Amino acid sequence: MILETPRLILRPFRGKDVERFAELMANRDFMRFSLGPYTREQTQGVLQKFFSWTQAGLPSQFAVIFRRNNELIGYCGFLHQEVDGRSEIEIGYRLHPDYWNRGLASEAAQAVRSHAFRDLSLPKVISLIHPDNIASRRVAEKNGMKIERETVFRGFPTLVFAITREQWLAEGGAG
Ligand SMILES: CC(C)(COP(=O)(O)OP(=O)(O)OC[C@H]1O[C@@H](n2cnc3c(N)ncnc32)[C@H](O)[C@@H]1OP(=O)(O)O)[C@@H](O)C(=O)NCCC(=O)NCCS
Repeated sequence: MILETPRLILRPFRGKDVERFAELMANRDFMRFSLGPYTREQTQGVLQKFFSWTQAGLPSQFAVIFRRNNELIGYCGFLHQEVDGRSEIEIGYRLHPDYWNRGLASEAAQAVRSHAFRDLSLPKVISLIHPDNIASRRVAEKNGMKIERETVFRGFPTLVFAITREQWLAEGGAG
């Protein structure tokens, strides 16, 4: 499945993305509010996880391609998380800092949310966000999400932003 927005193409990751993806995952800013920069081996593990979800027929992450230069600039898509003992589907996103503050993460996240409800009929999606991550909170808000609760996830204080398919439909199921 490929998602298209005015400035972006969201397509499944491929094996040969590993070089560029490892470069992104080694960048301190790209990895803000996470576990810090990843080695190439760790990044390979992440890609394997994305591929295994796809092979199992589960929604997975998309590679975010900036149309203007055809660059892989980050990821946006689905992650399968266990939060407080419950299985949840998260929309997660990271972009290279050169591409921040142009509305691109919001554009990508909205396309992924609409895909979740329109094409996959998922009942609910969440985003797990550190309270200090203001940019990510804005992306979630613009994605129609509301704070459901605060929890601790992998040892970090975390806001659980959420939107259900019913809420999305009630807002007109747009975008
Ligand atoms: C979070 C992230 C994906 C946002 O990407 P982006 O393309 O810059 O986001 P957008 O341009 O779509 O929107 C960002 C919003 O946050 C605001 N914002 C950005 N940086 C901000 C900051 N430091 N302080 C306050 N607001 C900020 C922008 O003004 C914008 O809000 P607006 O539309 O009301 O003006 C990007 O910063 C990133 O990759 N960060 C590192 C990884 C990360 O934190 N991922 C999320 C983990 S939950």
